[in-house]
Amino acid sequence: MFKLTLSHTRSSARQFFCLALLVLFSSTALLQARAADITQDDLANELAVLLRSARLVISNNQELINDAEKGDKGLAPDKVVAQAKENYKKAAGKELTKAADGSQLARAQKAMLAAISEVMAKNQALINEKGKGFKGFLPAVFARQVAENFSAKMNGEISVKLTAPKELIRNRLNRPDDWEHSTFVQQFKNPNYAKGQAYSQVVGGTFRFMIPEYYGATCLQCHGDPKGEKDITGALKEGSKLGDLAGAISLTIPKK
Ligand code: HEC
Repeated sequence: MFKLTLSHTRSSARQFFCLALLVLFSSTALLQARAADITQDDLANELAVLLRSARLVISNNQELINDAEKGDKGLAPDKVVAQAKENYKKAAGKELTKAADGSQLARAQKAMLAAISEVMAKNQALINEKGKGFKGFLPAVFARQVAENFSAKMNGEISVKLTAPKELIRNRLNRPDDWEHSTFVQQFKNPNYAKGQAYSQVVGGTFRFMIPEYYGATCLQCHGDPKGEKDITGALKEGSKLGDLAGAISLTIPKK
């Protein structure tokens, strides 16, 4: 009786082991098959990081851009693209490598780099104008123009936008839609929400993704205190505090 039980136990242990191996192998195979095909979350995140990296070039050069004495600011399209790639490397911890040819990511990366380049080309005369200090060429303006240009290039396949909670909106073009509004209210403003973490959801077959942004010290000269006072752009300051939710980069990828 004892022997029988033992052998029975052994054989079920063997069966279990075989089953476990089978599960392990098939899931590895599945993972390998998917490795070339990145998730929509990864795709959206890659593009958000690239857009932020380009916008950082404008933030880092804001004083230069606002310089009334200097003509040529040296912010030619290729220079800005090169600096954006450097910033990307720091932010992502890896080089911006070209994705596999023909992939959606490769097309999107190409469109984003072209959008950055075209927006810079279009604004050269404004940026290089001598005798004019503040020119209204700001990170948020640059980001909006790049986002619009990119979304047009992707022709509805992927669209990107800079947005903010309703009460903070300065430019109506950046207004949140219903899903973006509820994501601000229910997720990003929730005190239990992990700061900085992206949020995504499939809504009616469309992939929606938002990554929140917060005010840093340099933002507050325009968005900070005293509330209601005019900032350099002539608009009214919102009275925001360091680290407050400022807005989000939002991506939409409709079902193919
Ligand atoms: C020199 C003033 C100034 C500074 C500095 C500034 N902003 Fe803004 N911000 C603006 C203006 C003006 C707009 C409207 C841009 C447009 O026309 O699209 C804006 C728009 C935005 C928007 C888009 C939503 C909207 O209101 O239309 C976000 C998000 C935002 N700013 C966040 C930031 C953050 C984060 C920083 C710091 C990293 C920052 N801003 C620094 C002036 C500024």
